[in-house]
Amino acid sequence: MKFVRSIMRNAAMLNAPKHIDHYAKFSPSPLSMKQFLDFGSSNACEKTSFAFLRQELPVRLSNSLKEIHLLPDHLIMTQSVQLVHSWFVQSLMDILEFQNKSPDDPRVLAEFVETLVTIRNRHNDVVPTMAQGVIEYRDSFGVDPVMSQNIQYFLDRFYMNRISIRMLINQHTLIFDGFSKPGHPSSIGCIDSCCDVTDVIRDAYESAKMLCEQYYLGSPELELSEINAKNKSQPIEISYVPSHLYHMVFELFKNAMRATIENHEASSTLPPIKVRIALGGEDLSIKISDRGGGVPFRKIERLFSYMYSTAPRPNIGDQQRTPMVRPQNTLNRHSSVKRAGFGYGLPISRLYARYFQGDLQLYPMEGYGTDAAIQLKALSTDSVEKLPVFNKTALRNYKVNQEADDWCVPSKEPLNVAAYKAAK
Ligand SMILES: Nc1ncnc2c1ncn2[C@@H]1O[C@H](COP(=O)(O)OP(=O)(O)OP(=O)(O)O)[C@@H](O)[C@H]1O
Ligand SMILES: [Mg+2]
Repeated sequence: MKFVRSIMRNAAMLNAPKHIDHYAKFSPSPLSMKQFLDFGSSNACEKTSFAFLRQELPVRLSNSLKEIHLLPDHLIMTQSVQLVHSWFVQSLMDILEFQNKSPDDPRVLAEFVETLVTIRNRHNDVVPTMAQGVIEYRDSFGVDPVMSQNIQYFLDRFYMNRISIRMLINQHTLIFDGFSKPGHPSSIGCIDSCCDVTDVIRDAYESAKMLCEQYYLGSPELELSEINAKNKSQPIEISYVPSHLYHMVFELFKNAMRATIENHEASSTLPPIKVRIALGGEDLSIKISDRGGGVPFRKIERLFSYMYSTAPRPNIGDQQRTPMVRPQNTLNRHSSVKRAGFGYGLPISRLYARYFQGDLQLYPMEGYGTDAAIQLKALSTDSVEKLPVFNKTALRNYKVNQEADDWCVPSKEPLNVAAYKAAK
């Protein structure tokens, strides 16, 4: 029986390209925070969620697969990218097995939850594995600006899609696996409809502080102020995914602490990290300010770059390699996001912020410090998934060649004014 099943599976795999072509023709359907909450509210319908996911997950997986196919041949051929590709294809085929199954059969629904859990586990190491492929490619072929731009474009979209796929899987499995209870009464799956922003920020600070003290034997204090312009006496609460918020601020705190300590090695006191949180009618803004000496403005783009990341190689499965990385046993109640610490702190955090239409930016003042700003949507109706779509515009973006710059490049040589002297 096992043998027959494996033959059938192999035969199905041969059809994968046809399925990828088919599903990649659909645009993903972004969900709003409100729709996520409705899926999990008291009138939640597992059958509806099942029917939605068995169409939507193949669409999102196929959109990503199409973009993998556009990567440079030498990158696709690396073992790491091949592995990631095979995971995506396998997961696509796993879900397609449900296309003709009845949502009215409770066994089908239970099997679907199990399949989603298998897919989530299979994809656990996608980020470090992909990063490994990029490093192998960089080591063999060097970095040129056009390639770096293409890979940045690809990885931002690829990792964003991954965040979204995990979000869909997490919501369905958490709500319908029959035994997980939300950690908080206002939680629906991994969304908290009353996410206490200050609380999450304090938690992230405490975890970063613990790591910092482990490595540097000291840490900067936190000075936090909050302004709830909507209702001054109330705590700042929005509908959000606490683990996403935690991930972003934890990364920013680690960076701010490291910079502060390294910039004040000679002094006996450390300037505090100042955090300001403001809730307005539309936006929830968080500003984290350190006095870690900043970075030259010219380098900002590189700090968000996957290709130019200077951190050491990722070690697949190893979560504790670089300094200031949270060991697994310090995972706190808000952190469900696994990460490895290989120079992707900023770019991945920016994706989390952008996922629900927010953003994350750095404003350095070289010689003094850095302000890191996160903007999130305050209203659940504005928080809509930001998803890549594989279409002609995307295709064009991969075909951009190095063309002459349309801004003058200043010459490094001093201008020879003699050439302009009017003939006497
Ligand atoms: N607040 C800051 N002050 C000064 N430099 C910073 C600050 N934040 C980031 N940087 C610089 O940006 C680089 C990239 O940051 P990022 O968080 O993406 O990666 P990392 O900290 O090197 O590694 P990881 O976060 O994955 O452990 C850092 O190595 C550091 O040089
Ligand atoms: Mg970092």
